[in-house]
Amino acid sequence: MSAFDITVLQYLMAYGLPVISVVSLILCITKHFSTMRNKLLSRLVSSFDTSYERIMVVHKKNLFLPLHDVVSSDWKLKNKGLIRIVEIGFRTGENLKYYPKNSHVIVVDRNLYIHSYLDSNPGLTNNVSIEDLFVSSEWNLEPIADNSVDAVVGTFILCSADRVNLVLSEIKRILVPGGLYLFLEHCSEPLDTFLYKIQNFLTVTKLWPMLFDGCHLNRNTLQDIKFAKFSDLDYQYITVNNGHNKFSKLMRTHFIGTAVK
Ligand SMILES: C[S@@+](CC[C@H](N)C(=O)[O-])C[C@H]1O[C@@H](n2cnc3c(N)ncnc32)[C@H](O)[C@@H]1O
Repeated sequence: MSAFDITVLQYLMAYGLPVISVVSLILCITKHFSTMRNKLLSRLVSSFDTSYERIMVVHKKNLFLPLHDVVSSDWKLKNKGLIRIVEIGFRTGENLKYYPKNSHVIVVDRNLYIHSYLDSNPGLTNNVSIEDLFVSSEWNLEPIADNSVDAVVGTFILCSADRVNLVLSEIKRILVPGGLYLFLEHCSEPLDTFLYKIQNFLTVTKLWPMLFDGCHLNRNTLQDIKFAKFSDLDYQYITVNNGHNKFSKLMRTHFIGTAVK
């Protein structure tokens, strides 16, 4: 072996191997990133969701009470004592159990698997009838006619909407005059608090949205609902103490209420 060969070999041992190892590690992480993220996400979210949903039961029960007094503007439904509800951000139908019996529900969500999920869980829709289902990644309510819906339900959706104002104006468009928009959302802490700085940091660095399906911790979408100029707006702030979960403080303040078109 010549002196040149030995030098090359020494360089390879000194720099080549570490560089190759680092590059392989990066490639491996990149390749498996989405799987790792999904696994981590589902573990985090499912532990968070179970306790969170339990805490929300009482608030959701109150939120959905007004639905039981709604009389449909669609005379065919009205004659049968039914109402039409659009639920945007349906996920796995957590809210269906709060709806009046035989509500006609139009579902909007970006989850491609909602059809098959509903088919394989027939018990979920025992008390309601699913009138239509739109899979849309942009909260697209276009297929729904103007002034055609008695109530719109949106719980924990505005934090992840790209264009909150557009979603709200679409909600107004499809509601009949006097129709109800029922909302429940988490919101940011006051701007001068340390907690807000953390919420803002986690959001602008995209860490939180990446882990939690586009969720923004640094928004207060109540302002957007106010700007949407519904004819009547009734809301209250609630503080949620989900002490079992490490993330609970980051989603502590919520607002819940009803807007009338
Ligand atoms: C946090 S979950 C809320 C689930 C349910 N409303 C609740 O109260 O538990 C948000 C839902 O909105 C859907 N979603 C998020 N961003 C969306 C978008 N840009 N277009 C359509 N659906 C979206 C998600 O698929 C998910 O089902």
